[in-house]
Amino acid sequence: MRTLSVKGRVYPTDLNHNGGVFGGWIMGKMDKAASIAVDEIIKTGAVTVSVTDLHFKYPVHNGDIFYIYTEIMHIGFSSILIDVDFKIRSIDEENQLSELKSVVDAKFKFVAVEGKKTVAICDHLRPDATEDVIAMAYIGKHSKNKTLKS
Ligand SMILES: CC(C)(COP(=O)(O)OP(=O)(O)OC[C@H]1O[C@@H](n2cnc3c(N)ncnc32)[C@H](O)[C@@H]1OP(=O)(O)O)[C@@H](O)C(=O)NCCC(=O)NCCS
Repeated sequence: MRTLSVKGRVYPTDLNHNGGVFGGWIMGKMDKAASIAVDEIIKTGAVTVSVTDLHFKYPVHNGDIFYIYTEIMHIGFSSILIDVDFKIRSIDEENQLSELKSVVDAKFKFVAVEGKKTVAICDHLRPDATEDVIAMAYIGKHSKNKTLKS
């Protein structure tokens, strides 16, 4: 299920010397949105382990309103793969808001940890986790057990 995890606006302090938004600033916002998506399903710590398929499709400008959507794509034994979509709406001189447009997307992977030890997602789900998340976590835990036994 796709969820709006973070919403905000671009301000002049977020811009690079060419007047566009820093790519690293956008990536940081996307990482935080992914971490919120993770915190909403597990009750243990989690760290970012990888970012893949990162695409900067269109520039982002001062004043744009951004909406970061997240969706849990896959759950392994201790990892969660999240699709993160950074969308914007711009405001023109006549104060008209543009259509919502996807400008950056990427896949973030988080690993559940307790201290420095990785732990099973399935054993740390929040009680209100959705049925599809519970099913993915169950499959993730048991597929790893099969791999370890074979
Ligand atoms: C994340 C971390 C704890 C994983 O440790 P590890 O010894 O590689 O753990 P494991 O080998 O048991 O792998 C754990 C999971 O991460 C996945 N993983 C590990 N390295 C990966 C990589 N480079 N890319 C994608 N997935 C990776 C494994 O496939 C495994 O998934 P699964 O349990 O769902 O099957 C460790 O790499 C770490 O602490 N990294 C630094 C994290 C960090 O500081 N992030 C930035 C700030 S939040």
